[in-house]
Amino acid sequence: NTYDFGLVGLGVMGRNFILNVADNGFTAFGNDLDEEKVSALIEEGGDSAKVNATSDVVTFVNGLSTPRKIMLLVPAGKVVDIVIENLLPHLDKGDIIIDGGNSFFTDTDRREAYLQEKSINFFGAGVSGGAKGARKGPSIMPGGSRDAYQHVKPIFEAVSAKYKGEPCVAYLGPKSAGNYVKMVHNGIEYGLMQLTSEIYDLLKKAGDLTNEELHETYASWNAGRLQSFLVEITSEIFEQKDDLGEGHLVDKILDKAKQKGTGKWTSQNAMDLGIPVPTIDIAVSMREISALKEERVKADALYGRPTPEPVVKKTLINKTESALYFAFIITYAQGMHQLADASKEYGYELELGEIAKIWRAGCIIRAALLADITEAFKVEPGLQNLLLSPSFVDKVQETVGSARELVAYGAANGIPLPGLSNALTYFDAYTSSRLPLNLIQAQRDYFGSHTYERLDKEGVFHTEWED
Ligand code: 6PG
Repeated sequence: NTYDFGLVGLGVMGRNFILNVADNGFTAFGNDLDEEKVSALIEEGGDSAKVNATSDVVTFVNGLSTPRKIMLLVPAGKVVDIVIENLLPHLDKGDIIIDGGNSFFTDTDRREAYLQEKSINFFGAGVSGGAKGARKGPSIMPGGSRDAYQHVKPIFEAVSAKYKGEPCVAYLGPKSAGNYVKMVHNGIEYGLMQLTSEIYDLLKKAGDLTNEELHETYASWNAGRLQSFLVEITSEIFEQKDDLGEGHLVDKILDKAKQKGTGKWTSQNAMDLGIPVPTIDIAVSMREISALKEERVKADALYGRPTPEPVVKKTLINKTESALYFAFIITYAQGMHQLADASKEYGYELELGEIAKIWRAGCIIRAALLADITEAFKVEPGLQNLLLSPSFVDKVQETVGSARELVAYGAANGIPLPGLSNALTYFDAYTSSRLPLNLIQAQRDYFGSHTYERLDKEGVFHTEWED
C-alpha cells in the first residue's frame, strides 16, 4: 500500500493540510516524532484508508509512491535542515521535498542547491490561510523545478482554495521564488493589519465608536470595495465578548504586537534591493514601538496630548473607508513593486498577474482589490507599479482626498496614523515629477565632491562650491 502524498510535521497546520489532501481523493501519510500527534491524526482520519501516520521515518518514506512527494510543515530554521537530513538516506533520485513553512528565501536557495547535487527536487512553497486555510483550502505559492512541479500540481490544485473555480496555486518560478513571494505576501499582510488597526484607533478616539459600532462599520466595509479577509475578521473581533470577565475581549488584549520576522525580512530585503516599501517598513516599526509598552506608559505621563476635535460620525466613517481603500492600494502597489524588482534581481521570472490571481482566495491578504490587481497585470504584464496602471488612477484620485484630510486631522489631534501617512507620502513622492533631492545632490557634492548630474546636460559634474 503506497500513499500519494507524505507530510512531515503534524502540528495544527500539518494535520489540517493532510486531512485536506485526503478529502480531495488522495491518500496521505503523515510523519512526526511525537507519537501523540501521530495517533491524533490517525484518530481524526477515522478508519478511512486514505490517511495514516507513523513516527518512523523509514516506514514513512517506504510507504510513499515514487517520485515521493513529501511536504514539510515544520518551524522555519534549523528544524527544516534536520528533517531533510533524516529523510535523505531513504530517498531516491527524483523524489520531491516541499518546504511549506515561512523559510527565509536564501535558506531555500541553499537547500535547493544542496539537494540538486543529490538529484532530489526541492520546493519552497509558502502556504497562507492559517489553520482554517490548511484544512479548507489555502493559497499555495510554490517555487522550484518546473518539471518536478508537474508531479505536485494535481494535488496542490485540488487542495488549494478556489476563486470562482480557479485554484489559488500556480508554479511561480525557480529556486526560492515561492518563499520570496510568501515573504512579500506577509509584508503586505503587516501593512494591511497596521492600517486596519490605526483606523480603528481613529474611529474610537475621534468618533467615539463603540465596539458594536466598530463591528457594524467594518462589516459594512466588508460588503463593499474593502471586502477582504482582514476587514472581515476585524468586524468579527469587535463582537467577541470576554469569557474571563465583563465586556469585549479586544479591550482586554495587551497592545504589544509580536512578530515572527517575515515582515521585517520583507523590509530588509526591499532596502537591499533599493525598493521603497515605507508602508510595510512602518508596520514593522509600529510592532516594535508597541513592544515598548513600559516606556510608552512613562512617556504618556510626561507629554500632554490634544483632546480630539469633535467630528460627525457618519462623515468620519465615510472618510476612513475611502482612506483605508487608498492605503490598501498603496500597500499592494509597494509589495508588487518589490516582487517585480526581486524577480529581475534573483531571476525568478515572476508573473505578477499570476501572483495576484492566486492571492484572490485562501490567503490572509485576499481581498476584492486583488481581482482588480490581477486585471491590471493581465492588461500590462510588465507594469512597474500599480499606480501607473490607468485602471487604478480613478480609484486613487477618488480616495486620496480623504487620506489627506484624515492625516491632517490625526496630526493636529495627536492620533498616530503612521501607515496612512506613509502611504500618502509615498503617493505624493512617487507622483512628483520633481523632488527636492537635487539639493541633497548639491550638499553631497559640496561636502564630499560626490558629483551630480544635470537636468540640461549629459555627464557627471563637480563644482568648487564657494564658502
Ligand atoms: C499566513 C500567515 C502566516 C503566519 C504569519 C504571522 O499567510 O497564513 O502570514 O504565515 O500567521 O507568519 O506572522 P507574524 O507572527 O510575524 O505576525
